[in-house]
Amino acid sequence: MQIHHSIDSLRAARRASGKVAFVPTMGNLHDGHIDLVRQAAQKADAVIASIFVNRLQFGPSEDFNSYPRTLAADCERLEAAGVAHVFAPDETVMYPEPQHYHVDPAPAQISILEGEFRPDHFRGVATVVLKLLNIVQPDVALFGKKDYQQLMVLSNMVRQLAIPVEVLPGETVRAADGLALSSRNGYLSPEERAEAPRLYRQLARICEAVRRGDHDFLKLETEAVAELAAHGWKPDYIAVRRRADLQPPLHADDPLVVLAAAKLGRTRLIDNLEI
Ligand code: PAJ
Repeated sequence: MQIHHSIDSLRAARRASGKVAFVPTMGNLHDGHIDLVRQAAQKADAVIASIFVNRLQFGPSEDFNSYPRTLAADCERLEAAGVAHVFAPDETVMYPEPQHYHVDPAPAQISILEGEFRPDHFRGVATVVLKLLNIVQPDVALFGKKDYQQLMVLSNMVRQLAIPVEVLPGETVRAADGLALSSRNGYLSPEERAEAPRLYRQLARICEAVRRGDHDFLKLETEAVAELAAHGWKPDYIAVRRRADLQPPLHADDPLVVLAAAKLGRTRLIDNLEI
C-alpha cells in the first residue's frame, strides 16, 4: 500500500490502477469504515481511501481541533483491508489558498435535520467531496448510511452535476449493543458509553411501532425525545421522514427512515434506521 500526500502522486497512482473504488474518510477508522473498504474491493480493481479532517465542514464551536488524528494506525487497518492507495493530504495541499468556490446543496436539505443544527456543514462536505472526486477520479465512491442525509446530499450532487462516478451506499455497522460505530464514540466516558445505545433503542422502538401500524409519528417522536431527556440527553431531533428526500411523510406507502441527533454530555451522536 502506498501513502500519498500530494495530488500529483495520487493522480499518477490512480492512472495506473484500472477500475477504482474510492472511500473518503476523516480517519480514526473503525469497522464501519473498513466495511466500506471491503465493499469497495468487490467493485473495482483497486481501492483508494482518503484521510482528511475537513475544516470546512466543522462549525466554529465544533470539534475540528480535537477530532482524533490517528494516521499510522489508520494506514495499518487500510493496508490489512486491501487498500492499494491512501490519499492523506494536509491542509496546505487541499486548501493552499482560501477556498472561494463552494458547492451549495439544495436549500431543502440544508435547512432540515443536520442542516438545521449544523449550518454550512453540508456545504463543507459537498465541497471537499467534489474536490476529492476531481482528484481521485474514481469509478465508484462509497458512503455509509450512518450519515443518511450526507449520503443523500452527495448522491444529489453527483446526479445534478453529472459527476462521472457511481455512488454506492454501505449499511451502518454497529457495536453488539446497537450503538452505531463512530469516531466520536471515543469522546464518551465509560458511563456515557453504557448509556449511548439508548439512542439506537429509541429508533428501534419507533421502527417497531410504525411497522405495527402506529402512524402517529409526532407522538412516537415526542415520546422518544422525552425518554432520552429523562436520561440526561439533549436531543436535537428525532424525526420519521420519507427516505426519498427526508421530508415529512405524505402518503401511507412512502418508504420511511427515522433519524436522530442528540447530545450526551459533550458528545453529539447521530443515528438512523430504515423502517
Ligand atoms: P467519516 O465520518 O470519517 O466517515 C467516512 C465514511 O464512513 C462515511 O461515508 C460515513 O457515512 C461512513 N461511516 C461512518 N460510520 C459508519 C458506520 N458505523 N457504519 C458504516 N459506515 C460508516 O463522513 C465523513 O467522514 C466526511 O463527511 C467525508 C465524507 C469524508 C467528507 O469529509
